[in-house]
Amino acid sequence: MATSATVKAAAAGLEDVVTGPSEITDVNGKTGQLIYRGYDIHDLVENTTFEEVVYLLWYGTLPTRAALDGFAETIRSCYHLPQALVESLKRYPKDADPMDVLRTAVSELSFYDPDKQSPVDDRTANLRRAARLQGQIAAIVGAWAQIRQGKEPVKADPSLSFAGNVYYRLLGKRPEKLEERAIDAALILHADHELNASTFAARVTAATLADMYAAIVSAIGTLSGPLHGGANTAVMEMLLEMKKEGEEPGPFIKKALAGKRKIMGFGHRVYKAEDPRATHLRRMSEELGNKYKTPQWFEMSRRIEETMKAEKNLLPNVDFYSASTYYVMGIPTDLYTPLFAVSRLSGWAAHLLEQYAHNRLIRPRAEYVGPRELRVTPIDQRR
Ligand code: ACO
Repeated sequence: MATSATVKAAAAGLEDVVTGPSEITDVNGKTGQLIYRGYDIHDLVENTTFEEVVYLLWYGTLPTRAALDGFAETIRSCYHLPQALVESLKRYPKDADPMDVLRTAVSELSFYDPDKQSPVDDRTANLRRAARLQGQIAAIVGAWAQIRQGKEPVKADPSLSFAGNVYYRLLGKRPEKLEERAIDAALILHADHELNASTFAARVTAATLADMYAAIVSAIGTLSGPLHGGANTAVMEMLLEMKKEGEEPGPFIKKALAGKRKIMGFGHRVYKAEDPRATHLRRMSEELGNKYKTPQWFEMSRRIEETMKAEKNLLPNVDFYSASTYYVMGIPTDLYTPLFAVSRLSGWAAHLLEQYAHNRLIRPRAEYVGPRELRVTPIDQRR
């Protein structure tokens, strides 16, 4: 049975469906290439900072020194949260899932939007909103890391970079060079990824002319699932489970695969070659594991990678080595996905700016395969 209109069903999960043009990010799954605004991710991660990449995503070009100074200052000026939101955070249950906290807190932020009176598609107002959200999303995650332990949020240090402040507010101590660089690189690597599920959700919401806050809340909810951003936390839980059970990675993975279990951090809808983000995270996991004299997490991960290649020909995605990288730095496991959101806010905002600039309602069709021509039986006669 077909839908009443003549429409052709797309592949399950919209695989390989191209919904329209975008100037932001290109992913070449065959060659394992990722490009932001024309620049290869390897070049960006080696030669820029997260602040430069955010500017690139939103404005389309890399900033000059003067433009970067002004932009970084704008983001810095958005590091604080409205006091009413901090009070709300203090009332949330201390054991709440941090992604639920983040979704709720960003939604609350919309009450305090100073641009509330501007049209939702006003680019200048949206650039201000995006800068505020970029600073505030990091502030929320940092504040929650402290508040749930019964502590006051750590005040941002204006002398630190964005990445440095992320680390400082999460862990309450200033980062050394290697940690700051690792967080900065992780933020760059997670910043955007074309029409991944959360970005698509954000664009669908914005296409109804709902505001940026509504779209970001949709995106955060979508990112939280284990098939998307939630995978990084799930990877670490798997490594910890393996250690607790005293199991070797090879047999553990083979047994899990035999039980039809999905191994988190492997496989990708688009990449069939190595995910270029995993290349950097693998190196960081090794480097930091050595620094902290806890190389076992990297070594276990390497053996899992070898087993997955041999058994399923599946490669690690961005979430696999980020787990051990964050773990050895002492970042709590359930904050990995919120940290992903802190970075991806930049990509979501870039896509929202693009969506509002060329908007058309996103409203696909379903292929109706249910029954037809049924007649209503009076309620008391139904069985
Ligand atoms: N472990 C075991 N088998 C897997 C895995 C995995 N991680 N990934 C894919 N497969 C298998 C599937 O079981 C399926 O096998 P089958 O054809 O025999 O049934 C085949 O590979 C194709 O997998 P699909 O799930 O259909 O691929 P899809 O493109 O729909 O999904 C996804 C991609 C969701 C990333 C998938 O690979 C997965 O679930 N991975 C684990 C979760 C994960 O790491 N998510 C993060 C992705 S990156 C990101 O979002 C930031």
